[in-house]
Amino acid sequence: MTLESTPDSVVSAQSTAPGSEWWRTAVIYQVYPRSFADSTGDGVGDLVGITHRLPALAELGVDAVWLSPFFRSPQKDAGYDVSDYCDVDPLFGTLDDFDTLIETAHSLGLRVIADMVPNHTSDQHEWFQAALASPEGSPERDRYMFREGTGPNGYLPPNNWESVFGGSMWERVTNADGTPGQWFLHIFDKSQPDLNWENPWVREQFRGILRFWLDRGVDGFRVDVAHGMIKQAGLPDYTPPAEGASMGGTGSVDASEFTPLEPGIQDPTAPPEPPYWGQEGVHEIWREWHQVLAEYPGDRVLCAEAWVDPLEKVALWVRPDEMSQAFNFAYMFTDWKAPALRRVIDESLEAFGGVGAPATWVLSNHDVIRHASRLALGADAPPQGAGIGPGSTVKPDRALGLRRARAATSIMLALPGSAYLYQGEELGLPEDIELPDAARQDPTWFRTGGEKYGRDGCRVPIPWEADAPAYGFNATGASWLPQPSDWDGYARDAQEGIVGSTLELYRSALRSRRELNLGGGSVLWLNGYGSSVVAFRNGELTVIANLGPVPVELPVGRVVLASEQIVGGVLPTDTTVWIAPN
Ligand code: GLC
Repeated sequence: MTLESTPDSVVSAQSTAPGSEWWRTAVIYQVYPRSFADSTGDGVGDLVGITHRLPALAELGVDAVWLSPFFRSPQKDAGYDVSDYCDVDPLFGTLDDFDTLIETAHSLGLRVIADMVPNHTSDQHEWFQAALASPEGSPERDRYMFREGTGPNGYLPPNNWESVFGGSMWERVTNADGTPGQWFLHIFDKSQPDLNWENPWVREQFRGILRFWLDRGVDGFRVDVAHGMIKQAGLPDYTPPAEGASMGGTGSVDASEFTPLEPGIQDPTAPPEPPYWGQEGVHEIWREWHQVLAEYPGDRVLCAEAWVDPLEKVALWVRPDEMSQAFNFAYMFTDWKAPALRRVIDESLEAFGGVGAPATWVLSNHDVIRHASRLALGADAPPQGAGIGPGSTVKPDRALGLRRARAATSIMLALPGSAYLYQGEELGLPEDIELPDAARQDPTWFRTGGEKYGRDGCRVPIPWEADAPAYGFNATGASWLPQPSDWDGYARDAQEGIVGSTLELYRSALRSRRELNLGGGSVLWLNGYGSSVVAFRNGELTVIANLGPVPVELPVGRVVLASEQIVGGVLPTDTTVWIAPN
């Protein structure tokens, strides 16, 4: 088959949108500070460590770095429990270290995105401590979600909501005189009380916090649990469909939730939206935040962590006067099947493009099973947040997972819009499924009494050098989560310059993506390759991914990128190729 004889499909998705903001086409690399690089040797990564390793990211070819939280925190949820939003946790360094980091990043041409955690604070935050010390009905209590209990003497929680991490979403406080008091809401751990975003005081504080970091030069924010900040009035009871509290960053979303019916037809069996996710009131907050960012020169980005469904609803969050981007979790959880992928790509381009926002693409982050393992599990993958470990009934096949991950990334990086990478995926890192129970730290593990492994398996410090202590994560060999003994082959220095290594695949994909302006392009579907193939053109480039068992004959052209070795002009299974005209 030649390029010329390939019949173009009637379906052609539009390019992302007009506009020149850098984030519309950017590849954004997520750094999880605990596990990236540790300069002090205490086993936990830090800002100085990140700064030292920034040249490796510039050289990888990404545009921006998103830093998971490094703010002052008791670290009950790995920093997503903030006790001071305007300071760096001593575990990670100082504000001066942050200033050096951002200056270094900018000098290397990398933007820096901070992770804002507005849905909840730590219970150690001075606001929450003041709320506990203040009487019922006080302004201090009104900053959080305090309510009376139900049942005799209020001994039952105000409603039946279940925490994303397991157990009730409510915790009862004890009054100063020792009597049981009110209950407070916590969507996540009880050490993470939810703020009351109906309270203008809370909103004012956060506008100030945004400005604090914008003044220090950040290029934008990833907004944690953006979908949870407003709760339905009256806090009505909610019974989730089957599997836990659903749809938190760590809740349970399975791919079937994103398998749409015919366009425009509502699924009559779909459960109602939980009364704590994706409520209308959030839009007003995004408009306020948009205004704050607009006070600053340059293009600053707001990216929503929004576990809402369907994509048309997510798109409402990125209307021109709200956020800039939202993570595309529908894409992340699409099964490794060509028809499903084609559909979600179309739906994404249509939904985001419909409001003038760039589509985003993501395959891994610090809350999900790494895609080099997840894609080998298929329908056996456990619900999100549950994780996999030594006692799991399913074990991912490493070779199959990596092969699919490389093919999946090669599709993703050819798509128009903005893509997110998670540290270590450029090394092909699998999920660590053998972590000993005693080493686990995710609150999910504790709140479910060990029933769910949680997310530690994707958070293990990454390997830089095959033969160094802690694989070059630090100089001492200490590591807050133990690293597997067989990760030397994944180390960056073991892959550097090695033809066919995952690192070189990412480098070359990112280089070609930039050269060919794929982020600013469009998708034109190509038919004629069969139902197990994803094939499209983006500009001059032809992208073909074979997800089926039968080898696919390739068109004539110059191979720009191949996720596996191509022999004899045919594309083997679980392989993606990029082809340019000769
Ligand atoms: C988000 C974060 C996750 C964290 C949760 C609570 O979903 O990505 O890591 O546990 O929020 O803050």
